[in-house]
Amino acid sequence: MKLDDKVCYCFHISKRKIINHLRIHRPRRASQLSDCGGAGTGCGWCVPYLKRYFAEYEKSDLSEAGELSSNETEVISAEEYARQRDQYIESGKGKPPAR
Ligand code: FES
Repeated sequence: MKLDDKVCYCFHISKRKIINHLRIHRPRRASQLSDCGGAGTGCGWCVPYLKRYFAEYEKSDLSEAGELSSNETEVISAEEYARQRDQYIESGKGKPPAR
């Protein structure tokens, strides 16, 4: 996934916003990423990804460019991520917030 790809579809939060939030606010727990525009508080699909970003952030210094080292979230394409999220919603595992 690229920096401007969406991580949280429910609240339209990009990877860039998540990484900047980690760098600037330095949360102590992954759950505090919800302070970043509500990330992870809708259907729940993105929570494992937010946890992975947080775990990487804890392990390493974020570079000036805001890149985290390669991991599973980097390998998956934005299209595949969106497709899997659609399946997650269709299977009834999570419910997006009402609009
Ligand atoms: S995609 Fe993040 S809570 Fe639904």
